Amino acid sequence: MKAYVIRNLANEPEQAFRREEMGTPPVGPGEVRVRMCAASLNFRDLLIFRGQYRPSLPLPLVPLSDGCGIVEAVGDRVRQFVPGDRVATTFFQESSDVGGEGLPSRITLGCERDGVLAERVTLPETGLVRVPDHLSDQEASTLTCAGLTAWNALMEEDPVRPGDTVLIQGTGGVSIFALQFARISGCRTIVLSRHEDKLDRAKKLGASETLCTGAFPEWEKEVRKRTDGRGVDRVIEVMGGTGLPRSLEAVRSGGRIQIIGILSGVASSVSLLPVLMKEIRLRGILVGDREMFLRMNRAMEVNGLVPVVDRVYPFEEALEAYRVLDRGEAFGKLVVRISPP
Ligand SMILES: NC(=O)c1ccc[n+]([C@@H]2O[C@H](COP(=O)([O-])OP(=O)(O)OC[C@H]3O[C@@H](n4cnc5c(N)ncnc54)[C@H](OP(=O)(O)O)[C@@H]3O)[C@@H](O)[C@H]2O)c1
Repeated sequence: MKAYVIRNLANEPEQAFRREEMGTPPVGPGEVRVRMCAASLNFRDLLIFRGQYRPSLPLPLVPLSDGCGIVEAVGDRVRQFVPGDRVATTFFQESSDVGGEGLPSRITLGCERDGVLAERVTLPETGLVRVPDHLSDQEASTLTCAGLTAWNALMEEDPVRPGDTVLIQGTGGVSIFALQFARISGCRTIVLSRHEDKLDRAKKLGASETLCTGAFPEWEKEVRKRTDGRGVDRVIEVMGGTGLPRSLEAVRSGGRIQIIGILSGVASSVSLLPVLMKEIRLRGILVGDREMFLRMNRAMEVNGLVPVVDRVYPFEEALEAYRVLDRGEAFGKLVVRISPP
């Protein structure tokens, strides 16, 4: 079977990756082998091959955490899946050694262990979930990280309520899922982007309001104006870094900032005064667990919600998907088709 492998860390994908022939992974007790149909990219996948995400990456490494495929074989003691089931990978993986000592719990696909940009993958059954029937393989391949992170930020601890105003930064994977989940929750949404054309697409997807950061560099002031000076109830913070002080200004007293991304840097210099005086709740989000994934899938099914796939690349052209992501061109998700259809 073929797989992409990060052989060495580099700035450009063509220097880091090779497409290689590998043996079909065996299936042990508690494990499931999946024939991968599609995989999708997240911003962190750029950081990983550049060595900016985890200093000691176990190389060689198959990249990507998010994928959908068909169960091909199951090992002894597998209870949840049979061959033919359509499944998606979970971001966090546990040990397949169900009776043994186990690995540390925070093993993630495409980083601490081999990921899904491969024709076949073997994972513990706890590292998979069944996918909603109404989604294509390519759509279902986007749920693992981007979908679940947005779901966790809006719907799990202290869920949003109908009528809340949610500020969504950017129009990438997490942000467009956040727009969709906020919409089915009856929230008002304000979407920020650097690009007018992406904001037009966000409007068509149901964004209540949009704000181009080029036209409104001090967007926090405009957000306050549009909320009659009150501020928004929740911020989907994918910028982090130097953008965080603006979010502290844009959020209402007692509002929440869900810290998800670090697009404008990991370090931030903020005054703690607004945090104290406005009793702002800052919450770090790290994707979400398997139970959350199952709850998200049920909500997607009931609401007929379909992820936004911007572009699909054949397996042989996967590196082009990396380049497009790197140029910040994507609206929603970029997907690699691994096996037909
Ligand atoms: N904590 C977690 O669990 C978690 C999970 C997933 C992602 N993340 C993080 O969340 C952030 C977004 O991830 P993603 O996968 O959704 O990314 P993505 O698909 O690449 O989207 C990022 C979006 O942010 C906007 N943006 C603004 N400034 C940017 C800049 N300097 N560089 C790139 N994009 C910029 C862009 O929207 P416009 O072009 O419309 O401005 C872009 O589409 C990343 O920092 C990622 O590491 C965290």
